[in-house]
Amino acid sequence: MVQLSTSVCLLGGFLGLCLIEPILTSLTPSSMCTPLRTLNDSLSHRRRYMKHYFPFNYTIRVHQREVFRLSNISRMRSKVKGVEDLLLQRLWFQVNQGVLKKIIRVMPERHPSRPYTAELERRFRDAEGVFVQSHPAEVFQQELPETIQDIWDYLTEEPDRVPESSWRLASPKSLLDNLCQTMFCLFSGCFTGEEAQQNYCGVSHWKKGRKKDLRPES
Ligand SMILES: *[C@@H]1O[C@H](CO)[C@@H](O)[C@H](O)[C@H]1NC(C)=O
Ligand SMILES: *[C@@H]1O[C@H](CO)[C@@H](O)[C@H](O)[C@H]1NC(C)=O
Ligand SMILES: *[C@@H]1O[C@H](CO)[C@@H](O)[C@H](O)[C@H]1NC(C)=O
Repeated sequence: MVQLSTSVCLLGGFLGLCLIEPILTSLTPSSMCTPLRTLNDSLSHRRRYMKHYFPFNYTIRVHQREVFRLSNISRMRSKVKGVEDLLLQRLWFQVNQGVLKKIIRVMPERHPSRPYTAELERRFRDAEGVFVQSHPAEVFQQELPETIQDIWDYLTEEPDRVPESSWRLASPKSLLDNLCQTMFCLFSGCFTGEEAQQNYCGVSHWKKGRKKDLRPES
């Protein structure tokens, strides 16, 4: 995909059409779709592995910034100057890499959800690999807007230097719900199909779904 957009740019360069390039790189490259859909297949089993196999009301300690929901995305889109989707996608990978690590860390070796979570993390890392490959390296060296840089710094802070007030308790299931919903929103180009009309970034879309979510499961 990089190749494609670069060659489009080179070709376009002769014709003075190089402007097209930034537009191309801000869209979700189609090479991302396969690994993300594979990740979604795993995520569709999250209720069982992240809820049923954990004690009732089980929560883990995460950094406040690791609670990354649709509301954060809409807030950042409206408040942070120069925030493009590509930046939010990078943030999504950064946040959720930490989330998955924390979930795995609380599970003993023989926990029934461990193979599932390890697989999930593998698939997540595959998607991240493709993400990095499908954008020119300079994209990742760009300076971040201050607000995003702050979040980044918090996320990469040594755990023992994080003040007590910055920790939050969250259930593994809710963390994966966030991961999943924000993925549909930020990479919506890969999740259209039959539900093409859905606006995955709309919080109300998910609120509607929540009632269904509360129904007892067989
Ligand atoms: C995610 O995967 C599940 C199970 O394979 C599927 O039913 C669902 O439609 C997928 N979601 C999207 C948005 O493609
Ligand atoms: C689980 O949490 C709910 C709401 O906070 C509480 O009402 C309930 O008693 C808790 N259940 C257990 C078993 O701790
Ligand atoms: C998302 O918003 C909540 C408050 O609603 C905040 O605590 C959290 O840190 C935000 N997450 C990020 C990644 O900024």
